[in-house]
Amino acid sequence: EMAEKGGYEHFMIKEIYEEPQVIKDTLSEAEKIKEIVSKFKNFNRICFVACGTSYHASLIGEYLIESQIGIPTEVILASEFEYFQKTLDKHTLVIFITQSGETADTIKALKIAKKKSETLAIVNVVGSSITREADHVIYTRAGPEISVAATKTYISQLICIYLLVAYLGENEKLLDNLYKISRLSEKILSREEQIREIAKKYKFARDFFYIGRGFNYPTALEGALKLKEITYIHGEGYPAGELKHGPLALIEDNIPVVGILPPGPSYRKTYNNLQEIKARGADMIILGANNDTHLDDIEDKLLFDPEIDEVLSPLLYIIDLQLLAYYISIEKGIDPDKPKNLAKSVTVE
Ligand code: AGP
Repeated sequence: EMAEKGGYEHFMIKEIYEEPQVIKDTLSEAEKIKEIVSKFKNFNRICFVACGTSYHASLIGEYLIESQIGIPTEVILASEFEYFQKTLDKHTLVIFITQSGETADTIKALKIAKKKSETLAIVNVVGSSITREADHVIYTRAGPEISVAATKTYISQLICIYLLVAYLGENEKLLDNLYKISRLSEKILSREEQIREIAKKYKFARDFFYIGRGFNYPTALEGALKLKEITYIHGEGYPAGELKHGPLALIEDNIPVVGILPPGPSYRKTYNNLQEIKARGADMIILGANNDTHLDDIEDKLLFDPEIDEVLSPLLYIIDLQLLAYYISIEKGIDPDKPKNLAKSVTVE
């Protein structure tokens, strides 16, 4: 097992360090994805179906497709899919996202959907059950993922989704920007020490909040899921504008709040929301651009190249949140590769 970990202490950290390479490998599937897109029949609606981390990747797909192309899109949890099946027809493209290709709820949903609609599966494990059922298959090319917590496979799912959106929307600019991402991802991995310090500071926290808007609302959900899975700390992801409709009542002195604040059209509103939280005594951990002067008085900040605007930020900002969960887990003496009560793939409904 030591040899398989390639010198790393855990599979999870090894898999996080593989992310820059995974981005390159998944981008090399671009031509295949372009070809699949050209084969789609006529559709006027897209429906994503997935569970867990794959569900969060799907949510980013929904934001991207609706905002960049304007095709009505929805995301359904595979375990809730049967309640929505009557709305499917031959003009719906149903996209299943699954790392393992073996998740029971997702397989069941695919069997229902293929009777009425065209289906596409975005899968990591080659030859898995889902790949034998779907009309089209895109492989995420992340390689085997051993750690129960999904990390590199999430990034590769996102790359596939961005490529899909770039080809569906004939968006050359988005395509060009994707090729910058793998270079910039390496920089994030060089600030491990800083994230370790933040992890030490907050390892005794009982609750965490993760706040993001738009494309980064799903990033907030995924950051909170990683925390829950491997540190056993309660974490909640919220859309920035929704706090004042209830959860702001839970903000108290020294509660850690992770604010996702990339540059872009949503910046000002999210900034104001984070100010409201800070004014109520929360300890802020901000992810933002390294030229943002508004962050000067923030002690814990994780800074990115300003080229990474809000559309691209979900691809890279999540890496810091994966590392944060990993190091809190280590600080607490938990084995992040084998969290209690969880299995790598959920093969029962
Ligand atoms: C991710 O960290 C989790 N272990 C879990 O939520 C997972 O994403 C979910 O079970 C879906 O698995 P799949 O992608 O293999 O279908």
